[in-house]
Amino acid sequence: MKINYSNKLIKLPPYLFIEIDKRKKAALTKGVDIISLGVGDPDLPTPKHIVQSMRTALENPENHKYPFGFGLIKYRQAIADWFEHRFNVKLALDEICALIGSKEGIGHMHLGFVNPGDFVLVPEPGYPVYSTATILTDGIPYFMPLLEENNFLPCLKDIPSAILSKAKIIFVNYPNNPTCAISQENFYLELIDLAKKNNIIVAADAAYSEIYYQEQYKPSSFLELPGAKDVGVEFHSLSKTYNMTGWRIGWVCGNKEIISGIAKVKDNYDSGVFQATQEAGITALNSSKQCVQDMRNIYKERRDILVSGLQKLKWEVKLPQATFYVWAKVPKGYTSSQTIIKLLDEAGIICTPGNGMGKSGEGYIRFALTVNVERIKEALLRIRTIQW
Ligand SMILES: Cc1ncc(COP(=O)(O)O)c(C=O)c1O
Repeated sequence: MKINYSNKLIKLPPYLFIEIDKRKKAALTKGVDIISLGVGDPDLPTPKHIVQSMRTALENPENHKYPFGFGLIKYRQAIADWFEHRFNVKLALDEICALIGSKEGIGHMHLGFVNPGDFVLVPEPGYPVYSTATILTDGIPYFMPLLEENNFLPCLKDIPSAILSKAKIIFVNYPNNPTCAISQENFYLELIDLAKKNNIIVAADAAYSEIYYQEQYKPSSFLELPGAKDVGVEFHSLSKTYNMTGWRIGWVCGNKEIISGIAKVKDNYDSGVFQATQEAGITALNSSKQCVQDMRNIYKERRDILVSGLQKLKWEVKLPQATFYVWAKVPKGYTSSQTIIKLLDEAGIICTPGNGMGKSGEGYIRFALTVNVERIKEALLRIRTIQW
């Protein structure tokens, strides 16, 4: 039998991080000592008290059932408490929906709001799911370049009115993957105004809200701004904050009607987040914040070593104030792809090519700070030996 993939599936580019993983596995089988700075998957373990809470939750047969709906009331209450404490924003329980990782909600959201031919406004370079989920719902991604001269914020004034009138969702992501930029209040105010005038839903992705290095650059929530809840929602994740990428847990919060649209899609696609995982999520959110601070300190040390090491080697790179990435300009005369191939072939280092996350990422590569200090120092030694 001939298997025919749908036109939508054929249209999808290969998923970048799976491609990078394949490249890594191929080099490993050749016996290369790989230093993997590609995928943003923390090397640190989930804190012990969260793992212990999962163990206890597993023993409770009540948790073995379908977890339908918006999520356990107590999980949503823990989110509401955490949110108020962290951002001074009050959330009602029907303004929160548990997600199987924020990727799941980001991917499913389109099904609730995008009709064939509608535009979805997507930052580029950016997290690939904003646009791939658009293609999977027969929408059309409209890419908004994130340029250094605009502090990696999309220039909302540049979006043509013909696009705005057919746009349903605008994605923004701060702290930003891959550029490491943090947002500014003025930008969010402009965004709310644009959303109101054009009836476009704002989907703010805050997966990295807790990975910052200085109080003065502590990321804010889009929902802190007046009028935000009228137009949008914000995605949050426990993946990066608590080293829980494999557990698949996060949430979306904000406008009640948008939340119930996402929940309705989910009712028809999945049956919610495993309750034992939600219990572990409650423990994460309610327990001491010390483990998060410890994690920030670890990333900070790695960041400082990598950035100063690259700068000494004359790389053009700024100290990021948030996320666990470093967004570096490639050496003169090289493209992003040529740079990552040279790093892999000559130094056994895996990085993400900026252009793989959008065409405005050309000329940059992204390093993930997900290996220990010794390996970062080793990576720098190896980079030093490369002839550019
Ligand atoms: C910008 C951004 N948003 C969302 C996610 C999804 O995270 P998760 O599904 O683990 O919550 C990621 C993961 O890397 C990301 O980089």
